[in-house]
Amino acid sequence: MIYTINNIKVTDLAKDFGTPLYVYDGNRIEENIKDLKNSISYPKLSIKYACKANSNLHILKLIKENGLGLDTVSYGEVFLGLKAGFAPEEIIFTGDNTTEEEFEYCVKNNVMINIGSIFQLDLFGSLYPNSKIMIRINPDVGAGHHDHCITGGPASKFGIYIDQIDEAKKIAKKYNLKIVGIHSHIGSGILDVDIFIEAMDIILNEAKKFDDLDIIDIGGGIGIPYYEHDKPIDIKLLGAKITNKIESFNKEYKKEVNLYIEPGRYIVGNAGYLLAEVVNKKKTPLFNFVGINSGFNHLIRPMAYGSHHRIINGSNYNSEKKEFVMVAGNLCESGDIFTKINGEKEPYKIDEIRYKDILVIMDAGAYGFSMSSNYNFRERPAEVIIKDGIVRIIRKREKLEDLLRGME
Ligand SMILES: Cc1ncc(COP(=O)(O)O)c(C=O)c1O
Repeated sequence: MIYTINNIKVTDLAKDFGTPLYVYDGNRIEENIKDLKNSISYPKLSIKYACKANSNLHILKLIKENGLGLDTVSYGEVFLGLKAGFAPEEIIFTGDNTTEEEFEYCVKNNVMINIGSIFQLDLFGSLYPNSKIMIRINPDVGAGHHDHCITGGPASKFGIYIDQIDEAKKIAKKYNLKIVGIHSHIGSGILDVDIFIEAMDIILNEAKKFDDLDIIDIGGGIGIPYYEHDKPIDIKLLGAKITNKIESFNKEYKKEVNLYIEPGRYIVGNAGYLLAEVVNKKKTPLFNFVGINSGFNHLIRPMAYGSHHRIINGSNYNSEKKEFVMVAGNLCESGDIFTKINGEKEPYKIDEIRYKDILVIMDAGAYGFSMSSNYNFRERPAEVIIKDGIVRIIRKREKLEDLLRGME
C-alpha cells in the first residue's frame, strides 16, 4: 500500500517533485488553527503564530488568511511577516540580544517590541524614549521536551528575571517608556496543561503590579505527540483554564486585557512531512542500516535534541514483513541518524524497505526546514503544500549554483 498525505500518494509527490521533499498539509494547518481558536473562548484573544517554527512565505500567508498574527524573533522575520501581508500591529518582536539596528528596524516599521533584559531595556529607552513596549519576564519556572527548549527558570538566558521587575519599572520611568504588555514563554513541547497554567498564574500575579497593561502574552510551547504513545495535550481543557484565568484576572485588574498566545509547533508540526529516498542498505554486527538521500542538514531535531520522529515506509505501507532498521542520513557525520528513542540512536520497526522506497519522516512541519542548512554543501529540499486537493510548490529545490552566491 502507498501512504498518502491529504489524499495524495507520496510516491507521486516524489516522482513529480523529486526527493528529499518537504510536504505540508494545508488543511491540517487550518484544522490546528481552528482547534486552538475554538478551545479558548476569551473574546480578546490574539494568536500570534511563532514563525520560527516554519517561515515559508506561503505558509505565513495561509496562516494570515486564517486570522492569526505573528510572533517574530529577528528583524528578518519581521521583514518576512510584512512581505506576507501582516499589518505591523499584528506583529510582535521578541528578540534576544537585539542589536540597535534591529531595534531601529522594528521602530521604523511600527512593530511592538518585547524586551527581555534590563540592559536592553536601558539601551532601548536611551534610543527611543517615550515609546510603548512589552517586557518579557522569566517567571522562575521552565518546562520543555529538551534542555535546549526550556526558556524559563534560573538556567535560562531569556527574559527579565522576576526579581528584577522593580528595576525594569525604574528604567521605564527614567525614559518615559510605557509598559503596555508583559510576556513569558517557559519552554517548548509542553504536553502538560498544569505546567502552562502554573506559569500563567505567576505572570498574572506579576501583571497586577503594572498599571498600564493592555496585553498579557502567555507565550507558545504547546507540544504535539511525536511518539506513538504520546497523548496529545487536552487542548479544550487548556483553553478553558486559560479563559478562566484571564477572566478572573480582568475582574481584579478592572480591565479587559488582550490575551496573546504564540504557538509555533502546534500550528504546523503535525502538518509537515519530510520525504526521502532509500539509497543504501547495510548490515553491521550491531545494526541494519538504511541510508537515505537526506540528513540532519534538512531535519536537525533528532541530531540536536535526540528528538523522536516516526518514520513510515511510504512505498510499502502496512506490509506484512517488517524490519528493525537504523535510518541514517547522507552526511559525513556518525551522528546523522534519524531513528532516536529517548534521545539515543535506536532501530525502528518499519515496513520492509527496498532500494528507492520513499520513507516519510513524520511531524516535520515545525523546526524542520526553518532549521535546515547547507552542511556538506548540499542543497536544501523543495517544499510543497497540498490544500483542497491541489498540490503547489512553495519553494524550489536549491541548486548548487545558489550555494555559490556571495562567494564568486
Ligand atoms: C518567545 C517564543 N514564543 C513562541 C515560541 C514557539 O514555541 P512553540 O513552537 O513550541 O510553540 C518560542 C519558541 O522557542 C519562543 O521562544
